Amino acid sequence: MTAPGAGARLLVTGGAGFIGSCYVRDLLARRDGTRITVLDKLTYAGNRANLAPVEADSEQAARFAFVRGDIADAAAVGPLVADADAVVNFAAESHVDRSILDPAAFLRTGVDGVHVLLEAVRREGDRAAAGDRPVAPRLLQVSTDEVYGSVEQGRSREGDPLAPRSPYAAAKAAGELLAGSYHATYGLDVVVTRGSNTYGPYHHPEKLIPLFVTNALDDQPLPLYGDGMQVRDWLFVADHAAAIDHVLRRGTPGEIYNVPGSHALPNREVVAQLLAYLGKPWSLVRFVEDRPGHDRRYAMDGTKITELGWTNRVAFAAGLAATIDWFRANEAWWRAARSGEWGAYYERQYGGRLARAEAAPEAVPPTAAGPGGAPSGEDA
Ligand code: NAD
Ligand code: TYD
Repeated sequence: MTAPGAGARLLVTGGAGFIGSCYVRDLLARRDGTRITVLDKLTYAGNRANLAPVEADSEQAARFAFVRGDIADAAAVGPLVADADAVVNFAAESHVDRSILDPAAFLRTGVDGVHVLLEAVRREGDRAAAGDRPVAPRLLQVSTDEVYGSVEQGRSREGDPLAPRSPYAAAKAAGELLAGSYHATYGLDVVVTRGSNTYGPYHHPEKLIPLFVTNALDDQPLPLYGDGMQVRDWLFVADHAAAIDHVLRRGTPGEIYNVPGSHALPNREVVAQLLAYLGKPWSLVRFVEDRPGHDRRYAMDGTKITELGWTNRVAFAAGLAATIDWFRANEAWWRAARSGEWGAYYERQYGGRLARAEAAPEAVPPTAAGPGGAPSGEDA
């Protein structure tokens, strides 16, 4: 086992995105000597501004480097992996709706990119065997509960069959299966996390919670897919980042760890809670044409990561309040994220849907889970 300790050199791929940047900010803020290089392609979802707090702090900035590049580019990846004690791979195209519109980029990063990273780690294994470095780097592949597909009842465990149902989820499943195969075949030190739906500050405003918060702040319609009764188990971003770090340090090579959220809720209930906190009316909601192949419910069993010593800290109500407060205080950040190609994407995804939608009723409809949803230890 080659788990990195304090003061390690980490390569964090996709570290300018939502969860990766939280991981980088939180880890460097510990001031334990850890050095981090971020490799990020800066797609529409990647944002250097997410790392501004690190670059504004001279002690942290001295332990931080940023490289713009693609994980599918072997020439860029090789030297960075050679300099690392561990690689944490967040890089992915991460939005299900975009994977339905245009799957190709998902496969390039999620399959080819992961393959390039694995080959680079394998080369370091050869160098370690030749005595050129002490051990090969550990690789943590950040994956998702969406690889299990829609789970109508019960909770997915790590050994359950994978049944991805969107191009995004299929690319994520392929990436983690490839990583597992490199552990079995070449003995690479690989660990995998499967995180639940994550929310929090710096979340790109095309995902449910930030889209609805920013639309509501502008009194714009909130496009809720289908009947709005799809259930997600919400995980605060700092909890997700902490779980990834916990598995990086303590996970067993070759193992997979579910990272469940703190609260399972139907989408309608999430929307009702965020509107209530913002003081905005339910009449902003539009029930629009559903997402094709929309997964009805995700739910994971967290026994394995609990036994490893990790637990959720942030309850949904507190996390949602902190998230909304952050968006209120950082309008320039989200207005910039909603510029450029945003307009074309928004029109393609929602233009027809909103035009066809009828206004939702004024009252909040009853939900299957009741007013508060269900803590994720119970079934929603
Ligand atoms: P994000 O889209 O905000 O960030 C992804 C980052 O990867 C961006 O900075 C982007 O520029 C970068 N990137 C994309 N392709 C790249 C490439 N080829 N080379 C280098 N960098 C590239 O996504 P996120 O929400 O922060 O998700 C991070 C990871 O966590 C992803 O692997 C995702 O599948 C996984 N995950 C996300 C959630 C969630 O709810 N957001 C839940 C579970 C797992
Ligand atoms: P999303 O944030 O895209 O995450 P995921 O698809 O990975 O779960 O969506 C969360 C839920 O919200 C999902 O059930 C789809 C739904 N949703 C809407 O109803 N309307 C929207 O505009 C978006 C973006 C999502």
